[in-house]
Amino acid sequence: MERPEIITIDGPAGAGKSTLAKEIAKRFGYFYLDSGALYRAIGYACKLKGINLEDQEEVFNCAKSLNLKLENGQVLLNGKDVSSEIRTPEAGLLASKVAKHPKVRELIIKLLRKEAKGKRVVIDGRDAGTYIFPQAQLKIFLTASPQERARRRYKELISRGFKVSYEEVLKEIKERDKLDKKRKTAPLKIPKGALVIDTTGKGIEDVIKTLIPIIDP
Ligand code: C5P
Repeated sequence: MERPEIITIDGPAGAGKSTLAKEIAKRFGYFYLDSGALYRAIGYACKLKGINLEDQEEVFNCAKSLNLKLENGQVLLNGKDVSSEIRTPEAGLLASKVAKHPKVRELIIKLLRKEAKGKRVVIDGRDAGTYIFPQAQLKIFLTASPQERARRRYKELISRGFKVSYEEVLKEIKERDKLDKKRKTAPLKIPKGALVIDTTGKGIEDVIKTLIPIIDP
C-alpha cells in the first residue's frame, strides 16, 4: 500500500490536531499546513487595523492585502513571524469571526491548495477533509470532551506565560465550538470516510500507534 499523499486532521479546538499534525510531519516527512494559523493571522491583522469583523468586504479586503506564509510551522505576516501573537485565546475567537465569511475562506483555501502542490502534506483545520482536500487519502477527525480540551489549552497557555483561568478557557472553547459548528459555510463536521479518534485520556503516542500501520504500511 502507498503512503497517503494528503492527510487531513479536523476537529474542534483543543482536540490535539496541531500536536498530531506536527508529529506526523516530523516522523513521516510531511509538510505541515496549519490552516487555523492563517485565520488567526487575518483576525489579528484586522483587529490591529480596527476593521469591523462582521463586515465581509472589509475583512476580505484586509485579508487580500496581507502577505501570509506558512513556514516550518511558523506564520509569517508581511514577513514578520507572528506565531506567538496569534496563539492567544483572543486570537482564536477573532479567527472564528473572520472564518465565517465565505470570501475569506475562498482566499485561504486557494492559498492552502497552492502551498500543497507537489508536496506530501498534513493539514489541520475544520474543513480540511470535507472541503479543502476531499480527495485526501487519509482523513482523521480528532475529538475530546470540552473539559479535557480546555484543560490542555489552559496548561499550554499557562506554560507560555499567559494569565488565564481554566473557566475562561472553557468558555472560549465552547463559544468557538458553537461558532464553528453553526456557521453556514464549511461548518465543522466529520468528513465522509474519516477515522474518528476520541483523544480523551489518550496521549500523542497512543494516537500515533493507531496511525502507523495506515501512514507507513
Ligand atoms: O485550529 P485553530 O484553533 O488555530 O483555528 C482557529 C479558528 O479558525 C477556528 O476556531 C475556526 O473558526 C477557524 N478555522 C476554520 N477553518 C479551518 C481552520 C480554522 O474555520 N480550516
